[in-house]
Amino acid sequence: MMRFDTVIRYGTVVTASDTFVSDVGIKDGRIAALAAELTEADEIIDATGLFVLPGGIDSHVHLDQPSGDGIVMADDFDSGTRSAAIGGNSTVLAFCMQEKGQSLREALKVYHAKAEGKCHVDVSFHLVITDPTAEVLGQELPALVEDGYTSLKVFMTYEGLRLRDDEILATLDTARRTGALVMVHCENEDAIRYLIGRHEEDGKFEPKFHATTRPIAAEREATHRALSLAEIVDVPIVIVHVSNREAMEEIRRARQRGQKIAGETCPQYLMLTADDLDQSEMEGAKYVCSPPPRDESSQDACWEGLEQGVFDLFSSDHCPFRFDDPEGKLNEKGKRHFRWIPNGIPGVATRLPILFSEGVMKGRIDINQFVALTSTNHAKLYGLYPRKGTIAVGADADIALWDPNKSVTVRNDMLHHGADYTPYEGLDIRGWPVRLLLRGKTIVEDGHFAQQIGQGGYLRRDLSSLTRQRGGQI
Ligand code: URP
Ligand code: ZN
Ligand code: ZN
Repeated sequence: MMRFDTVIRYGTVVTASDTFVSDVGIKDGRIAALAAELTEADEIIDATGLFVLPGGIDSHVHLDQPSGDGIVMADDFDSGTRSAAIGGNSTVLAFCMQEKGQSLREALKVYHAKAEGKCHVDVSFHLVITDPTAEVLGQELPALVEDGYTSLKVFMTYEGLRLRDDEILATLDTARRTGALVMVHCENEDAIRYLIGRHEEDGKFEPKFHATTRPIAAEREATHRALSLAEIVDVPIVIVHVSNREAMEEIRRARQRGQKIAGETCPQYLMLTADDLDQSEMEGAKYVCSPPPRDESSQDACWEGLEQGVFDLFSSDHCPFRFDDPEGKLNEKGKRHFRWIPNGIPGVATRLPILFSEGVMKGRIDINQFVALTSTNHAKLYGLYPRKGTIAVGADADIALWDPNKSVTVRNDMLHHGADYTPYEGLDIRGWPVRLLLRGKTIVEDGHFAQQIGQGGYLRRDLSSLTRQRGGQI
């Protein structure tokens, strides 16, 4: 019989499609056997009563990005990937932000340097296209897709980042030719600027007005427009961080028209509402993100989207800033006007426990859907499958052991991120990842890091399952 480096015994293995009791044999960082009675190993892990899941893949994470004058993101690749690991993730896909006038290769050099030697889980980059010149779209991007940078994000909002429709069309056209997958942030910037102007005339500057200047109609319209532009070019896209029913219905309708679309939602749209922004002492600044959290009926809609498969991806959109900090939410200008509060909230550590507790343990989704929404679909859509995102012979041994009976009350200091708060402080969670293996090596056990952390590597990716074959779904 083969001798393994590690065997996980007596656990219940879960994939996106199956649940079965099996031992897992690991050799040289990969899963080498799934069978009963695997006994020959240097290390035996007893997983009695535990679920054996593929490590989480969070495909929407912002780390160490420049965020405006005097504002500093709270996580670099060290703290951000530490926090990811604590929450049961073995891979994160972060963003490489192109500065105006910068080549994509230069931007990648900067982000690879930021990540080099600092990562505790495996990492890859989406490109953010802010300056789609003929050179960028005609030469750089096609070459980079060949080199394994197979996804990119475009913004329809944020001055300085947003693209015009003709620029989005040109970017989509390059994506169609190269097989890159485009993620779109859908909010109508002109409508938002108009509303900010009106709020300023009325002297409305508190954090709660972040939500009223970014209404559902601004998200719905931009979602419809992004889907229409993709239809015109005939290319799949991902609609990221969907916050409400109306935007979600646009995805449903586009699919009915035959478009290949992936949809993503995030914990903040299940757990928070615009009321969280409406608090005294600037507390509301903690919850400022875009699109903003909506209301309870929007939360219900996002749950429906997860249950019924409108959403393929459940990501964190982790974008952390410190709260009580002049370089964070309460910077001098941010204290006086919501417009200057940096957008984004921390969540890479809490994404999986929240969906497990609120989704699986409360019977809204089953555990196979949980695996699909938090790992497998991310791997398929972003070109990492089957190396990542499943428990199968040959796959990387990225494995999270979950205790469905472990109760945890969320406290900021257990999350290991750089932010000085979590939006989920005090939330009671049932079900927690008690051990995480990255390519066969335990990196977290019972909330503590193993000695041998810092082993995260860079992942070159294949084309997305959505762009690879015409007519294909994930
Ligand atoms: O408010 C958010 N979501 N900040 C992160 C940037 C983005 O749009 O994803
Ligand atoms: Zn976005
Ligand atoms: Zn984001």
